[in-house]
Amino acid sequence: MKILITAGPTREPLDPVRYLTNRSSGKMGYAIADAAAAANHHVTLISGPSNEEVPDGIDYIPVETAEEMYHAVQNYIGKMDAAIFAAAVSDYRPASIAEQKIKKTEDTLTLELVKNPDILGSARSKFSYQGVLVGFAAETENVESNARAKLMRKQCDLVIANDVSRKDIGFDSNENELLLVYPQTTESIPKADKHHLAHIIIEKVTDLQPK
Ligand code: C5P
Repeated sequence: MKILITAGPTREPLDPVRYLTNRSSGKMGYAIADAAAAANHHVTLISGPSNEEVPDGIDYIPVETAEEMYHAVQNYIGKMDAAIFAAAVSDYRPASIAEQKIKKTEDTLTLELVKNPDILGSARSKFSYQGVLVGFAAETENVESNARAKLMRKQCDLVIANDVSRKDIGFDSNENELLLVYPQTTESIPKADKHHLAHIIIEKVTDLQPK
């Protein structure tokens, strides 16, 4: 299969030295890219800045901002059999980028933010993508119902949810515990190493491909 994976955070510049970002190491997305390549799939990894090692033998498209990630996905998704969106995309970006470093003058500083494009939400509606579509949901409460709402809203085949309010899993951690939310069913995958979970995810995604 040809599999597109988004990973890592995005970085939204404020001025030449500062940016807004999301708490994401890229570990889960890179582990999925690794597992997909190991299973002999053709992998395109579109990633924001991450310290993770880029797996050998894949197409790697580095990006910084959500808008860059949006355009990269738009360019590549048409050829894909499956797309897995594991990136932690900034929902908002600064309305303008200061040309010079913002100086500390006043006691308060108000930033105006504008909404970034929803990349996963555009896959079906704007890019007319018809392949297998998998989203992630990082939730702090009502994990299953929030994930199911996302599945419906973004027309996914699967939403992989995790509870990011827990200290022992998720962000920066090497482990995760997942809830696989499908249109008709939900399956829970117990806590395990992200590399182990990545192999399970690739198996489940392969199962979703029309025979
Ligand atoms: O709605 P929410 O942002 O929580 O959805 C999370 C899912 O959507 C993840 O799969 C994430 O990669 C994707 N996403 C995206 N573009 C955005 C925001 C989230 O692709 N702007």
